[in-house]
Amino acid sequence: MPDEKIKAIYGVRDVLPDEADRWQTIISTVYRKSESYNYNFIMPPIFEATELFARGIGEISDIVTKEMYTFKDQGGRSLTLRPEATASVVRAYIEHSLGAAKGLVKVWYAGPMFRQERPQAGRYRQFYQFGAEAIGSLDPVLDAEVINLNYDILKDLGVDDLTLEINSIGMPEDRKAHREAFIQYVEPNLKKYCQDCQRRFGSNLLRMFDCKENSCQDLLSEAPVVFDYLLDENRRHFDEVLKYLEIADLQFTLNKRLVRGLDYYTTTAWEFKSGKLGSQDSVSGGGRYDLLVEQLGGPPTPGIGFAAGVERILMAMPSGTETSDREKFGFFIAVGDQKFRAEAFKLLNAIRSIGLPADIDYLGRSLKGQMKQANKSGLSYALILAESEVAAGKVAVRNMRNSKQFELAMIDIYKAKDAEELGDLIETGQR
Ligand code: HAM
Repeated sequence: MPDEKIKAIYGVRDVLPDEADRWQTIISTVYRKSESYNYNFIMPPIFEATELFARGIGEISDIVTKEMYTFKDQGGRSLTLRPEATASVVRAYIEHSLGAAKGLVKVWYAGPMFRQERPQAGRYRQFYQFGAEAIGSLDPVLDAEVINLNYDILKDLGVDDLTLEINSIGMPEDRKAHREAFIQYVEPNLKKYCQDCQRRFGSNLLRMFDCKENSCQDLLSEAPVVFDYLLDENRRHFDEVLKYLEIADLQFTLNKRLVRGLDYYTTTAWEFKSGKLGSQDSVSGGGRYDLLVEQLGGPPTPGIGFAAGVERILMAMPSGTETSDREKFGFFIAVGDQKFRAEAFKLLNAIRSIGLPADIDYLGRSLKGQMKQANKSGLSYALILAESEVAAGKVAVRNMRNSKQFELAMIDIYKAKDAEELGDLIETGQR
């Protein structure tokens, strides 16, 4: 009996070569935009001590209680595949005293995250995020900068039908006053809420606003929100943030019921949603975490950041031209006889060494087969090494778009010092 095929784990997906162009566009856009806002690249590891996430994201958050990939290593240490990167960035910030030299540290990152959620469209167990963090300032202009960077990247990628929802979920002192009013509102009807909400009521009551059950949302329709209990200082901060968003020409909706799934958030919190997505409509989210550095053992230091999900962006982005359809200025080298393979290999390396794409057949195809392959490769020209041309020190050049053919001296191709020179040579040969 043949062995069964091994398949990818439930809830993960392969990124196949036909998506490569779109991934490259996303990552290069994130790189370009983040650097233009003066954020520097950081790359924390993919696994960390479990305690980092328990302390950072919150012992009673859904992520920590239900969704983490946690395992013991050979030394019996409890490790976890990161469900997000903010806790890791803050750990690195503290561990390497990144704030000491700079005051304000601005970084960006991209990479896979892991959450054992129920998979569905736009929700995976391994997914890819990019994000940015700014650690060390309470300035409301910084809130506007981070939100603007978040927006700028999504806009540049053509993510459609975007809305920005924003809220202030306050500091512990604001939540204290709200808590009492909220308990008074919910308690008389507590039994009517779903099991999850009843549990959240005892531990993490703000998360009740995020319940997906319509009946719970109906029950909460008049519930007091933290926003209405903000102390003057925190209210003023938020008003300033909104003022700077207006100056940046960013449209937003104040959603006083917006809460986030991670417990480290304080004051400003936001989400970008896209109407192009189904129930998982949040493309990115972020907020302030002014107590997190201290909670993880560092000096009291405010922070703010966001992360966006690449799989969701791919769903909301206009579809581009796939690699296989796109024509690249480059060369497929074909041989009329296998004896010319050494020359072909030399030519291949010469073209690649000046930075141009080039390829060759590795399956012993006939010349006809190689030309078919050249066509599929998306490379714009074929260089054909056949008996009569090689004998004259020449190579036949075929324009794959219009099938027109001409000859070039091999020596001239080798002499080309860069892509431009070879381009000129081809141009002249075609005339
Ligand atoms: P988050 O809201 O948990 O925030 O995730 C940010 C984004 O990651 C979501 O808006 C979504 O696009 C994507 N995402 C989350 N879970 C999944 C999943 N299972 N499958 C596919 N995509 C997913 C954070 O992670 C915070 N660290 C953001 C942040 C940075 N806050 C401050 N700094």
